[in-house]
Amino acid sequence: MLGAGAIPQPLVPDAAVHGSTASPLTSKPAHGLTGQIRVPGDKSISHRSLMFGAVAVGETRASGLLEGEDVVNTAKAMRALGARVERTPDGIWRIQGVGVAGLQSPEGDLDFGNSGTGVRLALGLMASTPLVARCIGDASLSKRPMGRVTVPLAEIGARFETAEGNRLPLTLHGAKHAVPITYTLPVASAQVKSAVLLAGLNTPGRTTVIEPVATRDHTERMLKAFGAEIVTEARPDGRHIMITGQRELKAQTIDVPADPSSAAFPIVAALITEGSDITLGNVMLNETRTGLIATLIEMGGDIAILNRRLAGGEEVGDLRVRSSRLKGIKVPALRAPSMIDEYPALAVAAAYAEGTTHMAGLEELRVKESDRLAAVEAGLLANGVTTRSGPDWLEVEGGEVAGGGEVRTHLDHRIAMAFLVMGLAARKPVSIDDGAMIATSFPTFTALMNGMGCRIEPSP
Ligand code: S3P
Repeated sequence: MLGAGAIPQPLVPDAAVHGSTASPLTSKPAHGLTGQIRVPGDKSISHRSLMFGAVAVGETRASGLLEGEDVVNTAKAMRALGARVERTPDGIWRIQGVGVAGLQSPEGDLDFGNSGTGVRLALGLMASTPLVARCIGDASLSKRPMGRVTVPLAEIGARFETAEGNRLPLTLHGAKHAVPITYTLPVASAQVKSAVLLAGLNTPGRTTVIEPVATRDHTERMLKAFGAEIVTEARPDGRHIMITGQRELKAQTIDVPADPSSAAFPIVAALITEGSDITLGNVMLNETRTGLIATLIEMGGDIAILNRRLAGGEEVGDLRVRSSRLKGIKVPALRAPSMIDEYPALAVAAAYAEGTTHMAGLEELRVKESDRLAAVEAGLLANGVTTRSGPDWLEVEGGEVAGGGEVRTHLDHRIAMAFLVMGLAARKPVSIDDGAMIATSFPTFTALMNGMGCRIEPSP
């Protein structure tokens, strides 16, 4: 029960962060996956629930929050910046916010682990408040570009000291007198859009982001629900998103729907494994996130969307997925932003499809948790799949998959999960060098998959 009275000491389960050392895994051929499952809460919405709650007035409560390492690191960062963050024993996260101007300099480094979303959105949130914060991350995050957010945030008035090439570790000096900007996104990135909009929260006047290509819109939707003055207009040059700053946000109660990016793995698993019939409950169906479902249906995937409904401002539904004969298609570049995290899973589906699948518009895959284009291609080749690639495209020749290869995951959770799924229908088992990073986004992955009939085990 969430009783009134004193808020108990903040508690974030440390086991969720420190339970991992390198763990090689092997996935063996399986048959007939069944079950009704629920994948964990959406990662994008979980990060935002904690961050927006941290600068709202009052107590935000979030249920169904993803308790993966990435999100737990964001919770710790919000606490270090002055918000009270705690998890009740029944799994409700309570965030006592400090107001849009109330964040304080943290005492130690803010460690965002593996999470680009965590650090880039937090930089935006902090940029218009005169605080000093040093941000660090793991080996993967320390290679990823931060210039895409430090450039617009410097225009607002923040100052940065970064490692070479605009990378982490990075020290932010938030603006004393933030100025509103109009910024046209040079890359299709919801993280960059969100960083600028979040800086707009404590900036006087109107901050505008122009988005030539639509990306996930959780920041806009959720800020509106928190009472921000934010409007979106469709214009010939793209979507204009305008936020008027220095208005307080009001704490919210949030029920986080299941993550379509995590759902991608059991969906592809059921499609490629003969005799399968599974149902995934309460999956978010926001149309800026459903590119993979549309693509798999186009490839001949038997995916039925049941009980479409609205929950907490997002469309959700249950997905019934049955094994299918897939065929290769051309996936248009324009669809990439709505399935940007799903290409590793799609490439595995393509390996089992009849014919060629061509995927275009993939330049952003080069700067994810790993160079995903290179990692996917290497993993496919190691398992006997014919593939070709260019700077921003990938082509996969489908058919039977030999398997038997060991895949290098490069600290990338989605590479790990995709290739474990590939092992389910290959002639020989597929191994990955390290499954530890799976805990960043889908800590229950192995148990949930094995519960449906998969055979994912520690490598011998
Ligand atoms: C996210 C945006 C995407 C996505 C990431 C989550 C977000 O990144 O890859 O997993 O929550 O805003 P980009 O904005 O870099 O495309």
